[in-house]
Amino acid sequence: MSVRVVVGLQWGDEGKGKVVDWLAEEADLVVRYQGGANAGHTVQVGGETYVFHLIPSGILHSAKVCVIGNGTVVDPETLVREIEDLERRGVRVRGRLHVSHAAHMVLPVHRAVDHLWESSPGAPRIGTTGRGIGPTYADKAARVGIRMGDLLDARELESKLRVLLARHAGTFAERGEAPPVLATLLEACGRYRECLGPLVADTASIVNAAIDRGQLVLLEGAQGTLLDVDHGTYPYVTSSSPVAGAAGGGSGIGPTRITEVIGVAKAYTTRVGEGPFPTEISGPEGEALQKAGNEFGATTGRPRRCGWLDLVALRRAAMINHVSEVIVTKLDVLAGLPEVRVCVEYQTPAGTGGFPMEPHLLERCEPVYRTFEGWRETQPHAEDRSLPPQASRFLAFVASEIGAPIRRVSAGVGRQDMIPIG
Ligand code: IMP
Repeated sequence: MSVRVVVGLQWGDEGKGKVVDWLAEEADLVVRYQGGANAGHTVQVGGETYVFHLIPSGILHSAKVCVIGNGTVVDPETLVREIEDLERRGVRVRGRLHVSHAAHMVLPVHRAVDHLWESSPGAPRIGTTGRGIGPTYADKAARVGIRMGDLLDARELESKLRVLLARHAGTFAERGEAPPVLATLLEACGRYRECLGPLVADTASIVNAAIDRGQLVLLEGAQGTLLDVDHGTYPYVTSSSPVAGAAGGGSGIGPTRITEVIGVAKAYTTRVGEGPFPTEISGPEGEALQKAGNEFGATTGRPRRCGWLDLVALRRAAMINHVSEVIVTKLDVLAGLPEVRVCVEYQTPAGTGGFPMEPHLLERCEPVYRTFEGWRETQPHAEDRSLPPQASRFLAFVASEIGAPIRRVSAGVGRQDMIPIG
């Protein structure tokens, strides 16, 4: 029995989709445990590019079963589109994808409220993806949310939708905006029911039964540790918990069933949206990295802010998730640079220190860098599959700083570019 969590160790966009696609090869079941269509995973297989927002990328392996767990928030409009697109391209989804009855639905009202909150005078602008994530999790916590299971009972659904709309009526009125119309929502839910109703299931039982049978289960997080609502750079975070500790709760299994935590970190750092970012590189150097790494959001198309690898933040993320191993991605993007920098500690007004708990303190941290000689190639040498010595030295240093082994790196977009090392 093996239950692996795949978790992002930075501000999201670490390349988890590709790692999950690769690890899914030997898994039986892949579960997405949090987040919603704010995530965007890009996977390239056989010359085809697939972008996933909700469905685990394991769906591309025809024998796998995939689950969208209770910890996620599901935009049914996006999910229907994703299913139809995959089926059009010959990937069978129905019968292989189960959606938790307890996953909350992101409705158009949530997307509208997300925009109103973001443009609300006096409130901090987070730079959300605009996908309605915050308002949906807020409604879940306030116990007025609509769950996937509610789709199955039209009468219950209508009374719950009335409560939901009443809750948000004030927000629309205050801003002089027209509120959403119940009849339109009901009509949309009718369409969602037709397509998604048969997929709604008690997914906790499905996942536990798979583990009982000794199957290999992969739990896939979205976003990253530094965007976690508790452990990230609050308030510049998402509204759910990507960390490994939340994987059990978000999929309905007990924590002692998890056997491995695989952290994913990019060889440099990126961030989308607002919030502190100590190792950010501004100007042409940052733009060059953005271009080399194609650092544009898979969900919103927004350019990602780019910077050097931050080991202070990474050490903290490795601790919070207690990673068993780390996979470093996008190593190829750094190839060709004369030198590669890595932040080893922060200089603060009070001296050097670790990752501060408050974003305004992080704002004032000055990174202290260690510089490594660059390398030209990232493909391993054919005869012994070893990486260039400079890249190996860089990775060995990162592993020793994190306190976890790096056994695989990703150095390109294809499945064949996952390279075992060591
Ligand atoms: P929200 O999750 O849309 O509410 O956005 C909150 C913050 O998380 C914003 O800074 C977003 O840019 C960021 N964010 C959300 N999802 C992702 C992701 O998949 N990758 C990177 N950043 C994300």
